[in-house]
Amino acid sequence: VKIAIAGCGSIGVAFAVLFADAGHEVRCWDPDGGARSRARRDLEDRAVRLAEHHLLNDEVHVTLARVAITEEIEAASDSAEFVQECAPEDLAIKQEVLGRLADLTGPDVPLASSSSAMTASSIACGSSFAERVLVGHPGNPPYLLPVIELVPSPTTSPTVIARARQVYGSAGLHVVNVMREVEGFVFNRLQGALLREAYCLVRDGVVTVEDLDMVVRLGLGRRWSVVGPFETVDLNTRGGIASHADKLGPAYARMGAERGQHDPWTPELVDVVVRARRAQLSLDDWEDRVAWRDEALMRLASHEETNSTPV
Ligand SMILES: NC(=O)c1ccc[n+]([C@@H]2O[C@H](COP(=O)([O-])OP(=O)(O)OC[C@H]3O[C@@H](n4cnc5c(N)ncnc54)[C@H](O)[C@@H]3O)[C@@H](O)[C@H]2O)c1
Repeated sequence: VKIAIAGCGSIGVAFAVLFADAGHEVRCWDPDGGARSRARRDLEDRAVRLAEHHLLNDEVHVTLARVAITEEIEAASDSAEFVQECAPEDLAIKQEVLGRLADLTGPDVPLASSSSAMTASSIACGSSFAERVLVGHPGNPPYLLPVIELVPSPTTSPTVIARARQVYGSAGLHVVNVMREVEGFVFNRLQGALLREAYCLVRDGVVTVEDLDMVVRLGLGRRWSVVGPFETVDLNTRGGIASHADKLGPAYARMGAERGQHDPWTPELVDVVVRARRAQLSLDDWEDRVAWRDEALMRLASHEETNSTPV
């Protein structure tokens, strides 16, 4: 697939490495000369370092040969089949860039924005190409965090959504379907929930900044790299997540209320989560899954030990 990337900052360069290493032909455009020079150096640096860790599919020169960085938007968009916009997080800039790219590319070419906080609706509002626009919000950097949030607007065409899913999948990204255009999508809302509480705990003198980071790094985060928050509590409580909600729901509701948040885990809501979990894991297999989680954490712990990561 021929991919055009607009904006060669951190995210543009990272997508370029990822897409090129998946075999795609990538043309990057940035209006800033300094940014283009930096991008050339960064591209090579990322490819070399990934290769050192055996994380590049092809040899460095093969992957890099698939990327061109251009001064002209026309050169980047010429015969492009997919666009990933990585311009600054500014609505007017994104609208202008996507408008130009819409004119320069074929009528069915998806226009994906990397925006962290803007919706496809707000970017494409009232435009003639709204059905081609969607948000593809990556983690940073996308070549190390293999999830991407796909956030279409109600106007985005199903063909464009399917095409984006295909392109991201071909680069090894797992697509998260964000079903409504909420601010911050899912990734940053979850991060925000944790950060809000982290700030409160530091403000209230409960914990130091260093110790708070340590709790996440060595505790919650280490576990979350193996199982997500729902699966964590499902496996932490005999009887699964229904039992967890029953036993600990009131305590979590009090903690939320203390922060002015009143979103109780109603029996109906808990039931939705319980049914989803039980569809994934029968309680008959619960002990086996707990053992699997421990195995995974043991492999992680021994890897950390071998690599003597500072703690
Ligand atoms: N950095 C992150 O952690 C992160 C994560 C996910 C998504 N994003 C999103 O990705 C996008 C890019 O973020 P970034 O961190 O790479 O920013 P950045 O500042 O590193 O890069 C932006 C690039 O866009 C270029 N640019 C300036 N004006 C432009 C224009 N009119 N047209 C095209 N390019 C232009 C700049 O020269 C720069 O090279 C933003 O929307 C951001 O919210 C960032």
